[in-house]
Amino acid sequence: MQSTITQSEKTAHYISLEEKFGAHNYHPLPVVLDRGEGVFVWDVDGKRYYDFLSGYSAVNQGHCHPIITQALIQQSQQLTLTSRAFYNSSLGEYEKFITSYLGYDKVMPMNSGAEAVETAIKLCRKWAYEVKGINESDAIIIVCDGNFHGRTTTIISFSTDEPSRKNFGPLTTGFISIPYNDINSLQLALENKNIAGFLVEPIQGEAGVLVPDNGYLSQAKLLCEKNNVLFIADEIQTGLGRTGKLLACDYENVRPDILVLGKALSGGTMPVSAVLADDEIMLTIKPGQHGSTFGGNPLSCKVAIAALQVLKDENLIENAATMGELFRSKIKEIDSKYLNLVRGKGLLNAIVINHSDKDAAWNLCLELKENNLLAKPTHGDKIRFAPPLTITKDQILECVEIIKVSLNILD
Ligand SMILES: Cc1ncc(COP(=O)(O)O)c(C=O)c1O
Repeated sequence: MQSTITQSEKTAHYISLEEKFGAHNYHPLPVVLDRGEGVFVWDVDGKRYYDFLSGYSAVNQGHCHPIITQALIQQSQQLTLTSRAFYNSSLGEYEKFITSYLGYDKVMPMNSGAEAVETAIKLCRKWAYEVKGINESDAIIIVCDGNFHGRTTTIISFSTDEPSRKNFGPLTTGFISIPYNDINSLQLALENKNIAGFLVEPIQGEAGVLVPDNGYLSQAKLLCEKNNVLFIADEIQTGLGRTGKLLACDYENVRPDILVLGKALSGGTMPVSAVLADDEIMLTIKPGQHGSTFGGNPLSCKVAIAALQVLKDENLIENAATMGELFRSKIKEIDSKYLNLVRGKGLLNAIVINHSDKDAAWNLCLELKENNLLAKPTHGDKIRFAPPLTITKDQILECVEIIKVSLNILD
């Protein structure tokens, strides 16, 4: 059932360069991409693919969106970086725009997702000591088993994924992990008076698009309120339209105390992340206590405004909801003994492969690639399907057909 991979000289050349000169911290599918536009990417030989990974949901607005790239080009010729040693003429405008877009008093601009999660953790601890009154160094943040919040030392300290942690210690303390989607465990954990925050992904993306039960997030938020604990939503992957709402938390009318965004905040053009909160929380951090050279740079500010504007102007959030429904309903119609399950919300979906060969999901991805669709397995038997939110009905139908035909490779 192994698909026959034909590799052009060009492809082999670029792969060998990465093998020889790059760190081996990824295991990419053997395809070398060279160009992107909308829902499509092209490899170095000119073969076109549907991109069903979207840079792990960073390219919600589609590859090289002309309005976003225009903002990038224009600002890159005017002013790119001032550092926060000085004010700049883009940051305030962006801060006003994003806080009113998402309904918070303040934003802290950062770059990568992990950096924004780190910022949220520091903010939560500062609030715990200076507002809630927990004794210094006693604050605890509750996280969930199977979480993925990034790769820094503190973040991997509370990962339950063994390879993410092994031999990277000593690790950071002050976290407890509870089962995801288990409100009783949360209630029990909250009995500890040193709990400062609950950090959660509204849908666990990396874990294989695990969607919690209806009511989990709203009950968790209520419990947090009752115990004076901050509800911190990591919407780096689920946010900005991906799940068919602006935020996945919107499905349950939950307003996080701290909201963490990244990825699609730049439409996939550059690393832009953000932490949003109200004054009581955000103003606990004073000058000199946190920052980043590139955080809030004029280039990222202009790009983020354009990326957020495009989401609304092009109705991408509504499109994600409709196309997601269509995708799941059509996948469910596929009659294959290897297709265990399709789950997700909006255009953040995954299938679970049921096969005796542990490499089945990987082999299916190789076959999908042969058939012009790019996706990547996560946690062995799951394949995430997350195309840009610009995808049309006809394109969804064509892609479902590709998936259906490709499944035959597993026979
Ligand atoms: C939910 C979530 N949080 C945090 C991150 C880390 O973001 P970054 O890779 O930009 O550091 C990711 C990345 O996949 C993510 O999915």
